[in-house]
Parts: sequence; structure tokens; C-alpha cells
Amino acid sequence: MSHDMPKGRRIYEGKAKVLFEGPEDGTLVQYFKDDTTAFNAGKHEIMSGKGILNLRISEFIFAELEKIGVPTHFIETISPRQQLIRAAEIIPLEVVMRNIAAGSLVKRLGLTEGDALPRPLVEFYYKDDALGDPLISEDHIAVFNLCSAEELAEIVTLAKKINQRMVEMFADVGIRLVDFKLEFGRVKSDDGTRIVLADEISPDSCRLWDIDSNEKMDKDRFRQNLGGMVDAYQQVAERLGLMSDIEEA
Ligand SMILES: Nc1ncnc2c1ncn2[C@@H]1O[C@H](COP(=O)(O)OP(=O)(O)OP(=O)(O)O)[C@@H](O)[C@H]1O
Ligand SMILES: [Mg+2]
Repeated sequence: MSHDMPKGRRIYEGKAKVLFEGPEDGTLVQYFKDDTTAFNAGKHEIMSGKGILNLRISEFIFAELEKIGVPTHFIETISPRQQLIRAAEIIPLEVVMRNIAAGSLVKRLGLTEGDALPRPLVEFYYKDDALGDPLISEDHIAVFNLCSAEELAEIVTLAKKINQRMVEMFADVGIRLVDFKLEFGRVKSDDGTRIVLADEISPDSCRLWDIDSNEKMDKDRFRQNLGGMVDAYQQVAERLGLMSDIEEA
């Protein structure tokens, strides 16, 4: 693992990734660790090989989204655990898109896990670990100026577009996209500031169920002590046709 550490200055260590200064101004290196946490880091384990799988799956999804016009922070993959990305000013929101009831939505509204929602649901959580990332409304975002109304409209449009594409992408390989979390950031360029999709999209941040058996193929395997988490992530990569790249790496 030590042979694959970025050379730049370490800027931020999160629960699953480390950010390093990139080779050029305005760039960062996102390093994917094997650390796996849940319940706001109340539960923590090292899951060998997870970082490599998440990088590859996230890279693939970001590339598919770029193809349909979603701007992202992704520049290039440097190594199996390192991605070169554009540095963004992260908007402190976790944007959650839901297609099927699961997780906190089930608890909050007394639903049954697996209930289909009448249409995709967009939720906003205030990104603050100390507060446990509380659910907030559009009006909280406006009152506390977490982003502008124009930015929020752009984020919601992008989140819905991303959901449509990802539902298709996973359905094509026999996986139900239950829900997922997105982060967006501001990137400055010559022609002003624009919103880009940032962070990662991986089985750490999505709920993915096998279409036939409803078997969980995501971080709920860890949260719920079901075992086989890395094997499940590998199965996701395999179905997306990404395992040959990973074995070569
Ligand atoms: N393009 C980007 N520019 C700047 N920061 C980014 C970018 N993409 C992701 N990040 C941030 O990098 C960090 C990635 O680390 P990680 O996912 O491990 O954090 P985390 O433990 O989930 O903590 P946090 O609560 O800060 O998200 C996150 O804080 C994320 O918001
Ligand atoms: Mg994170």
C-alpha cells in the first residue's frame, strides 16, 4: 500500500479517502483507502481491496455520466488507488436520490424496506459529522445560504439526470439502484464558477440490490453485519465489466 501513496502534501484525511495536493494548481489527488465506516464512524473496519474496487466503479460511473453531459471533478486515474481530480469548493450538502424505500427513510416515515416510491425522491442532508448529517429542507438551504437558488436548481436537475442514467446502467447488469448519495462542488474557470459532481459514487454511497434475489451488494452488508462486503463490491465491478482492469492492476 505504501508504494501507492501520492507525493503531494496531505490536505485532508476523511473516513474513506485522503486528499493530497495535485501536480498543478486547482488539482487534487483523491486516494481511496480500505477503511470502512458506518453510523458516523461508530463502526470502523479495514476491508482489504475495497479502495481499489471503489475507485474503479466510481471512475466508470463518472465516465458514463460525463457522456450524458454531467460535469464532474474527474480528470484521470493515476494508479489503482489514486485519482487526479479538480479541486472544488464542496457545497455542504449530501444530496440523496431514492427510488425504493430503505435506510433512514424507512425509519423516519414508518415505511417497509423495499417499497417502491411513486417517483424518485430527492433529499438534502447538511454535511456535518458532528451533527450526524441532519435532514434539511430547501428552505434551510436558502435561509442558511448553503448554496444559491440557481445552484440548487442546477444540483436537483443534475441529480435527477444522474439517477435516470444510473438506474439504467445498473438495471442492464441485473442490479436495482435503491438509493445513493451525491456531493457537488464549485469549480472556478475563466468563464465563471460552475457546479460539478464531486467525491465518489460507489457501493459505499449507493444501495444496490440484485434484481432477482434482492440480495444486498453495498455497504449495508457491513452496516448490518451480513458479511461478504468486499465480495459483493467485486460482484458489482464484475457485472459492470470492470474486473479484468482490476486484476491487471
Ligand atoms: N473535487 C473535490 N474537491 C475538494 N474536496 C473534495 C472533492 N471531492 C470530494 N471532496 C471531499 O473530500 C473528502 C473525501 O474524503 P472522505 O469521503 O473520506 O470524507 P468523509 O470521511 O466522508 O468526510 P466528510 O464528512 O468530510 O465527507 C470529503 O470531505 C469530500 O467532501
Ligand atoms: Mg465521504
